Amino acid sequence: MKEVIEHLQTITFTMGDSVLELSYLIAAIFFVFGLKMLSHPESARKGNILAASGMLLAIVTTILFHETNGEPIKNIGLIIIAIAIGTILGWLIAKKVKMTAMPQLVSFFNGMGGAAAALIAIIEFPRMAPELIETQGMLNGQAISILLGLAIGGVSFSGSMVAFGKLAEKIGDPKLKFMRIINLAFLIGLLAFIVIILAQGHTQPREIIWMAYVLLGVSLLYGITFVLPIGGADMPVVISLLNAFTGVTAAMTGFLYHNQAMLIGGILVGSAGMILTLLMCKAMNRSLLNVILGAFGGGGAAAAHHEAGSVREITVSDAAILLSYSQKVVIVPGYGLAVAQAQHICYEMEKMLEEKGVDVRYAIHPVAGRMPGHMNVLLAEADVSYEKLIESDQINDDLPNVDVVVVIGANDVVNPAAMDDPSSPIYGMPVVKVWEAKNVIVMKRGMGKGYAAIENFLFFNPKTRMLFGHAKQSIQKLIEEIKSL
Ligand code: TAP
Repeated sequence: MKEVIEHLQTITFTMGDSVLELSYLIAAIFFVFGLKMLSHPESARKGNILAASGMLLAIVTTILFHETNGEPIKNIGLIIIAIAIGTILGWLIAKKVKMTAMPQLVSFFNGMGGAAAALIAIIEFPRMAPELIETQGMLNGQAISILLGLAIGGVSFSGSMVAFGKLAEKIGDPKLKFMRIINLAFLIGLLAFIVIILAQGHTQPREIIWMAYVLLGVSLLYGITFVLPIGGADMPVVISLLNAFTGVTAAMTGFLYHNQAMLIGGILVGSAGMILTLLMCKAMNRSLLNVILGAFGGGGAAAAHHEAGSVREITVSDAAILLSYSQKVVIVPGYGLAVAQAQHICYEMEKMLEEKGVDVRYAIHPVAGRMPGHMNVLLAEADVSYEKLIESDQINDDLPNVDVVVVIGANDVVNPAAMDDPSSPIYGMPVVKVWEAKNVIVMKRGMGKGYAAIENFLFFNPKTRMLFGHAKQSIQKLIEEIKSL
């Protein structure tokens, strides 16, 4: 006890240290509350600004007050130029990006985070390794956090870049045999290599530094082989998982630099990413092990053996009559609504039906569209009230009481194969059970498949009638008909 008190007495806190610690604490509180506010569309924008202000505070105070061995931070000019370039580029890209390309952007930004963490680790390791080896050998917290930061950051960077390429449709979904085994071997090899480096004890620093470069190379390679075979409906899970990886690397870096804001921010990103990953796994009926091993998903030709039957069409005027004289209507939006940018006109149709006394709600599937919360964002942009957006598992029980379900540009999320065809790749995925409603109108351009590239037997269901056409134009025509009734 006496020694501890004596040790504490030798530690001197400068004014700068206190300001730094306090600002990191405030930044961390901003991150936590910002994240909490992101969970509701109404507060999400403010939450984003709050968390970004926390980050700004941490950056500014670090530049002003951080000291290494009594020396202030150097190269402030270069740091400011780098921040300015990053901010301007990020701003311009985010402003210009189309809503439908948002997942690619998230993946790209996430990859940059992973790259930054891996770069910090590969720069710090040669600087710290000689001292570590001389004083305590390699098996210690600092070395573990640098090596894990290096490996996870590398995987996160290359994996995110492949995910970016896939989502931008620049990289396909190669069906590589034995990919599962190769990926598992890679993962075990990667972990074993980290253990080997840590077990090096007091060897020559030069050898260990070389090993760190090899580790970075292997991690980059693993990121590629990990994401490359994944396709189809499982891509969002991978992006979220890579996001969690980047959070973990940031936390490792925070641990390395004793930087609480970075540590807490990293842990928040890591855990939020992991929670989202698990939720999406559940929504898509995939196990996390499947995700980690890669080599799953993709199209699949399941259900192709079924008898298709015939498709019935509905005219615009019949659809308008059916909708106008209904009591309860549920709209199921999907990716096609986003592509058609039909959210505003859809809201117009909702208002028009409500004026006629129809109760209109929206069934929101967690993975409808191409990114988490895609439909919420889209409909919020069109001013649809949040109360009208009902999660699919909440609305499913009420669907037998619904007169008409209007599916607009959705396909996989209303596919009954998820419930009744065990050979389907989406079997077990929760879906909106639209076929339980009294009538179903499906708006799409033709008989095109959805993201999972599988047949949808909803379109052949006797309750279903198809209204073919571009979603925006079909709704426009419907509105005109409804007006004239
Ligand atoms: P999808 O299954 O992708 O189906 C969209 C449908 O919209 C297509 O069948 C297409 O049929 C139709 N469409 C396209 N453009 C249209 C237009 N201009 N007007 C009218 N219809 C149009 O969509 P979904 O039901 O929303 O399901 C989402 C899928 O994406 C799921 O498999 C999900 O797992 C996956 N995914 C989700 C996310 C997240 S996190 N949301 C991310 C990546 C992937 P036509 O060609 O015949 O018109």
